Amino acid sequence: MRLLGTTEKDLAIASDAIARGLLVAIPTETVYGLGADAFDPIAVARIFEAKRRPNFDPLIVHIARIGDAERVAASIPAKARALMDALWPGPLTLILPKRSEVPDIVTSGLETVALRFPSHPVARRVIELSGTVVAAPSANPFGYLSPTTAEHVASMLGDRIDFIVDGGPCEVGVESTVLDACVDPPRVLRPGGMALDSIRRVIGDIDLFDRKVATPTSPGQLESHYAPHAALYLFEYGSLPAAAKPGLIDPVSSIALAFDRARGDALRECGLFEAVECLSERGDAREAAARLFSILHRLDAEGRTQIWAEKIPAEGLGAAVNDRLYKASRK
Ligand code: TXA
Ligand code: MG
Repeated sequence: MRLLGTTEKDLAIASDAIARGLLVAIPTETVYGLGADAFDPIAVARIFEAKRRPNFDPLIVHIARIGDAERVAASIPAKARALMDALWPGPLTLILPKRSEVPDIVTSGLETVALRFPSHPVARRVIELSGTVVAAPSANPFGYLSPTTAEHVASMLGDRIDFIVDGGPCEVGVESTVLDACVDPPRVLRPGGMALDSIRRVIGDIDLFDRKVATPTSPGQLESHYAPHAALYLFEYGSLPAAAKPGLIDPVSSIALAFDRARGDALRECGLFEAVECLSERGDAREAAARLFSILHRLDAEGRTQIWAEKIPAEGLGAAVNDRLYKASRK
């Protein structure tokens, strides 16, 4: 693997590699993606190999101009068009009817395709220069935490991919919101970096995926996903340590993951955890999302065996943070 910077020369090397069928990890505003030419089935197959990802899991196709949506989608429903105009580029993925030219390996044989226009200038430039559209899942082994820095990618996949473009830490920090725009009202398949209220402001009503009654149709809905090696136990905001059985807390390697300073202080004072970490001292869901995966990567690297986490208030990106914490807890 070769590490690249973000000079125009390096971005040309990265995009040329994609055009030649190689695997290139690129920064996006959400998380790092592992990119390949979406119209090259062999290159896309190498993504699955590198990630050890089951082939049933469809990929997101990334574009760098709204006009390229038609190269991938067979049609664009009016509500999808409104969302593209209002919220792209940004952390919103739309599920649309697929054109037959899109290889089946990209969509796992589905009749639909996931489409996203990232706002990160490096991702945009690499896609633009490649002259193609780029299939890219998060650049992590299947089921593990998504990477929010080039170092995360290098340590997880460095020996299995061709290039990593280092664009620094990702600003949003959780994956894009996935919305099925083939149904009316459109349906949220994965909460993520685009707050649901921003979507509602553009198209009104949306359906929420309810894991209690529905069968997952998208692996982003699998119960266990985005999981660290440590056991993660999840509790309501403000309910620790009362909700935990004190005897189960490992005094040596446990950490409590609190939302804000008030909760952090309370969990420190109780003295039951070896350490306490706050997602956002100032209680900002955006900051919590941006730091979540980085913190979990670090806790794994430190060899923690238990993470006692509290949910955060569900407004804004809080819903996406709670979703990732929930999935991390289902191992
Ligand atoms: O922020 C993101 O979305 C990042 C960056 C790299 O763009 N990508 C990402 O990709 O998270 P991935 O492959 O880790 O997650 C894509 C999600 C999966 O849950 C997948 O099942 C769902 O999108 N998906 C893809 N195509 C689909 C389709 N045709 N129908 C339903 N769900 C689909
Ligand atoms: Mg992923």
